[in-house]
Amino acid sequence: SSPLIENRGQLIVFEGLDKSGKSTQSQKLKEALLKDGQFVDLWSFPDRNTKLGDVIDSYLNKRLELDDRSIHLLFSANRWEKVSKLIKLLESGTTVITDRYAFSGVAYSAAKGLPLEWCKQPDVGLPKPDCVIFLQLSPEAGAKRNGFGEERYEKTQFQNKVLEQFMQIKDESWKIINADQNMEDLHQEIYKHIKSLKKEELKRLWEKD
Ligand code: TMP
Ligand code: MG
Repeated sequence: SSPLIENRGQLIVFEGLDKSGKSTQSQKLKEALLKDGQFVDLWSFPDRNTKLGDVIDSYLNKRLELDDRSIHLLFSANRWEKVSKLIKLLESGTTVITDRYAFSGVAYSAAKGLPLEWCKQPDVGLPKPDCVIFLQLSPEAGAKRNGFGEERYEKTQFQNKVLEQFMQIKDESWKIINADQNMEDLHQEIYKHIKSLKKEELKRLWEKD
């Protein structure tokens, strides 16, 4: 492949239900890749530190009610407001790991009953991840973990619906990993998979190629 492809950073996305271990594992992956001498940035979506993110945070903490389509578009806009920075980082050789991305956007809104195809549209054209690590944990196991139940969406029945939607939208770039194992084994499995990825040209999400 061309030097441009060889030198670009990778976009690695962690997805999964609430409390599946995404934050812990994305942090551990970042540390491991840094140790290997790579440039790495760790992001999360929603990014609650922007003005749009502040509105999203109010919604998630139930201080604000919004129409389902309105909040869906805000989640997407919260990704688009960071895209130019994301592309700049990837092109300059920094690997970006994100804790959630457009797949959460689609799965959570579709689980409310919004049409799947409608849900995908606002995120069409975002940079396509080189890999999606999906941490699979049963909603029942997630519910037993610390902190579950505080925010909107953290209800076992709803999480079951979200899981169904995630399984509808997965594609060949997904690696589904059993998250119900100890932190260190899980990390090793993820790390090995990431190291096995081939460098490819950056594509765009959900565009026909
Ligand atoms: P977090 O717990 O990872 O901070 O995410 C907050 C919640 O927002 C979580 O329940 C998933 C949900 N979510 C969406 O509904 N749409 C989105 O686009 C994203 C990124 C998250
Ligand atoms: Mg959460």
